Amino acid sequence: MASPVNHDPAAGAQVHKGLEGVVAGETHISEVDGHRCQLIYRGYPIDELVGKATYEEVGYLLIFGRLPTRAQLTDWSKQLEANRALPPPIVTLLQAAPKTADPMATLRTAISALALYDDGGGDESGEAIKSKAIRTIARTPVIVAAIGRLQAGQPLVAPKAGLSYAANFLSMLRGTPPTPQQADALDAYFVLLADHGFNASTFTARTIIGTQSDYYSAISAAVGSLKGPLHGAANRKAMETLIEIGAPEQVEPYVQKTLADHKRFMGFGHRVYKGEDPRAKHLKAIARELGQADGEIKWFAISERLQSSVWNAKKLYINVDFYSASLLHYLGIPTELFTTLFACARIAGWSAHVMEQWADNRLIRPLASYLGPRDLRFAPVDQRTSS
Ligand code: CMC
Repeated sequence: MASPVNHDPAAGAQVHKGLEGVVAGETHISEVDGHRCQLIYRGYPIDELVGKATYEEVGYLLIFGRLPTRAQLTDWSKQLEANRALPPPIVTLLQAAPKTADPMATLRTAISALALYDDGGGDESGEAIKSKAIRTIARTPVIVAAIGRLQAGQPLVAPKAGLSYAANFLSMLRGTPPTPQQADALDAYFVLLADHGFNASTFTARTIIGTQSDYYSAISAAVGSLKGPLHGAANRKAMETLIEIGAPEQVEPYVQKTLADHKRFMGFGHRVYKGEDPRAKHLKAIARELGQADGEIKWFAISERLQSSVWNAKKLYINVDFYSASLLHYLGIPTELFTTLFACARIAGWSAHVMEQWADNRLIRPLASYLGPRDLRFAPVDQRTSS
């Protein structure tokens, strides 16, 4: 029989399922303003940064708190370049991974394995975490390009000195240097997705470092969180939707069927933004330009029609992942790799949040409202019934 006294410290407390609306901590890194639909990195609205600052500059801003001077940027870019080479056992691990594995699973495994080959492995001081962050920011796109090459059955391409984070990634993945327009497009994508408040993967990373665990545990768990279709894998699902639709005139039947089946439109809706995601208009403009340059505007045309059809049917706004899909497709990136591209962008934000949480830590440990029975009596195994 249930006890009349409830000792549950959360009893009667308001439950915020999914932590919706809960302010779970403080940060100086980025602000997601859901009402004004604004995203700010350390004081700079993203509209102010995109197309002007490179991913290297934005990574520095997130990690060090201010935009770099010319000398600081040169030094930071050199540090990133110097740390690109993967430890040989990581290359062996990537080569051993099944070609059919989800690239996010391979990336998560490789990030976790980086810990095993890091000289500063056991040192979790603030300085050591910063060094690991620099190494991991530098290596994440190298790992992703290697996954892409190996899955396509192609030989690995070494990182090339003198190329930017974005240009180097594209030339490693595709084996040929990108055009300046393509490099700038990917650079802008990386800038726009570099950080986003306490999203699920960032919060995961902070929760892990909050136990005084290590940098690589936090980042590999963040990759695992990003892998879900309600978070990072929405970009891949959005592309699969465009492929399934196939032609602009097929949009309407697709929308009607999705509504009838009570399914979700991938790349639409957001927990925090009450209007359009502030990153979406930039991604849309870039996707349009890439489509025009490519001479194949179909993917953009389907996207635009889907955006307006879903709006008419359900008043849903697009989110960051919607136009990321056609943008990444136009860059020649295979759909299966899309979510790993999101990780290449978010690695700077995750790292900055890990460092911030470490520097002013309090264990993250919320309560749960217990709904199960109480005061059951133990029965020896032979006396238990199955019902
Ligand atoms: N398609 C259809 N209906 C939707 C969608 C959608 N994409 N998003 C929200 N809704 C409806 C939902 O059915 C619900 O309606 P009702 O109240 O009639 O049942 C209402 O809107 C509220 O939805 P919710 O699930 O309570 O809202 P949430 O804050 O939990 O969801 C979300 C946020 C992102 C999980 C959701 O919008 C979704 O599933 N979107 C599709 C996946 C996606 O694009 N994810 C990327 C998110 S942004 C980038 C990132 O973080 O990675």
